[in-house]
Amino acid sequence: MLRLLKAVLPLFAASIALATPLDAQAPRWTFTEKGNSGIVGLEAIVVSPTLVLFFDRASDDPLQINNHSAWGALWDLQTSKVTPLDLITNSFCASGSRLSNGTMVSVGGDPNGFPGNPTIEDGTTGLRLFEPCNDPAGVGCTVFEDPATFHLAEKRWYPSSIRIPDGSLMIVGGIHRNTGFYNTIDQAALTVEFFPPKFGGVPRPSEFLKRSLPANLFPRQFLLPDGKVFMVANNQSIIYDIETGAERILPDIPNGVRVTNPFDGSAILLPLSPPNFTPEVLVCGGTNIPDTTPQGDISSQTPATDQCSRILLTEAGIKRGWVVERMLEPRIMPELVHVPNGQVLIINGARTGVAAIGTVKDPVGNSNADNPVFTPSLYTPNAPVGRRISNIGMPTTDIARMYHSTITLTPQGNFLIAGNNPNNNTNITVPVNTRSEFRVETLDPPFMFVPRPRILNAPEKIGFGKRFTVPISIPNSLQPRNIQVALMDLGFSSHAFHSSARLVFMDAQLSRDQRSLTITTPPNPNIFPPGPAFIFLTIDGVTSEGQQVMVGTGAAPPQTNFV
Ligand SMILES: *[C@@H]1O[C@H](CO)[C@@H](O)[C@H](O)[C@H]1NC(C)=O
Ligand SMILES: *[C@@H]1O[C@H](CO)[C@@H](O)[C@H](O)[C@H]1NC(C)=O
Ligand SMILES: *[C@@H]1O[C@H](CO)[C@@H](O)[C@H](O)[C@H]1NC(C)=O
Ligand SMILES: *[C@@H]1O[C@H](CO)[C@@H](O)[C@H](O)[C@H]1NC(C)=O
Ligand SMILES: *[C@@H]1O[C@H](CO)[C@@H](O)[C@H](O)[C@H]1NC(C)=O
Repeated sequence: MLRLLKAVLPLFAASIALATPLDAQAPRWTFTEKGNSGIVGLEAIVVSPTLVLFFDRASDDPLQINNHSAWGALWDLQTSKVTPLDLITNSFCASGSRLSNGTMVSVGGDPNGFPGNPTIEDGTTGLRLFEPCNDPAGVGCTVFEDPATFHLAEKRWYPSSIRIPDGSLMIVGGIHRNTGFYNTIDQAALTVEFFPPKFGGVPRPSEFLKRSLPANLFPRQFLLPDGKVFMVANNQSIIYDIETGAERILPDIPNGVRVTNPFDGSAILLPLSPPNFTPEVLVCGGTNIPDTTPQGDISSQTPATDQCSRILLTEAGIKRGWVVERMLEPRIMPELVHVPNGQVLIINGARTGVAAIGTVKDPVGNSNADNPVFTPSLYTPNAPVGRRISNIGMPTTDIARMYHSTITLTPQGNFLIAGNNPNNNTNITVPVNTRSEFRVETLDPPFMFVPRPRILNAPEKIGFGKRFTVPISIPNSLQPRNIQVALMDLGFSSHAFHSSARLVFMDAQLSRDQRSLTITTPPNPNIFPPGPAFIFLTIDGVTSEGQQVMVGTGAAPPQTNFV
């Protein structure tokens, strides 16, 4: 069994998979249809071991609550059932994350209402809290909003956000209202703010956001092991000092490639490993058309880029700049998602066009993008350049996932995929790939179909720089050689980016009887900011289900005492 598995799992050497013929009997990566989300799964975040929270635009979705269309819902990973949530403000094109006390906070959104749905309020300064939910089916769990008294300082539609070392949220960029296509200087939110508020609650101006106009919505950002934040928007990147607001300018992405809305590529912080936790960022897809191109000169058929760019964030790496690689196909709006074994899933998006709805030449239905990519690839960070990306053994779906679609790793270890709606409302009369999409799928790795290792029990909370021991079970089919323990934030999926997503490997010692693992936690909150996480155990490429833990004390942000 182990030998057969190796044939389909392009683990840490893509060359193994390339050289070995596929075995028809071996389990494979598989797409599985799971049912109907009732609202477009336009934003997605795992909020408990069994629940994913979806947000959509407030419009005319089929799922109803209190006699109006819902635009928030809980997806039950165990039953594939959806439960509507009653929201107040429009959560369209928002961001979010979980805080150090486990609370999910969704930030920003759309100013508009929708005809026939009178309950919708302006979401641009929206703050929506979902407190930790202990009921496996989400019974009694709701979203809290009080827009009159509890809101952001600045209007933000299309912002992004990350949890920082004190467990708060840093919220970056956005736009005040609809400008048609590009972000414009008169409507741009050219600032950074925090929740809970810091620095007197006054949004702090950012030169980087100004310089990266007009294609800088949903800036991609990552917390670095020195406590600073790496950001990329348009073709530019910086390192941001949270305390002082100072911005260090890094090299531009080469070849004129732009990676943020409306030219969405995706970006990911590659897994951090002890002892050095050296950070590297990978950015894939987007477009190489100039950001001065009038929208009327862009079409749904304009080719996307196949470029990935990777930068090592050490002094030597910054000096060298971005190193270019190529995907197997061009992709606008791809998703880059951590796999618990350290690989990166490259999935979704389209070969041509750009993001947004009905704003360029020759839209397909109302879609600015066309030619969806139906086959995912895997990126193996440690393989040599040119051999890192493979789709051997990967399945092909027939459901397009372009603008307003999401994907998240689940606590079960597979990927939940939802949404696609390049329309202003529910539209099923447009060409098939651009219809409002309510079908949910999973992408199941081969390990979902074989006996898996298990973490039998985990502490509720884990501190920093500590050791703890967990009981595990290893199936007879595995003889433990390569053991990986991943501490993961599964991120908030919105607009081809996973805010706060993170994978930190932890050193682990297997006991002589192979029944327990002694794990060393990350040394400090810069490596993994305090908050909820899942621990996955991978043995020779076969991954366990994730065990939920709280990193840190579970206290509300800002946290100052770390144990
Ligand atoms: C529900 O909405 C319909 C159509 O707008 C209306 O006729 C009906 O009175 C509403 N029911 C309640 C309980 O508000
Ligand atoms: C990045 O884009 C700006 C325009 O937004 C352009 O002036 C600059 O040359 C680009 N950088 C590279 C390396 O192409
Ligand atoms: C979508 O709605 C916006 C207003 O929010 C409008 O300007 C635009 O024309 C609409 N696009 C389509 C294709 O209906
Ligand atoms: C769907 O989009 C098409 C193309 O813009 C438009 O003609 C049609 O009216 C839309 N249907 C609905 C229900 O909005
Ligand atoms: C978590 O912290 C946030 C920010 O201080 C607060 O609004 C929220 O109510 C807290 N949640 C719980 C469960 O204490």
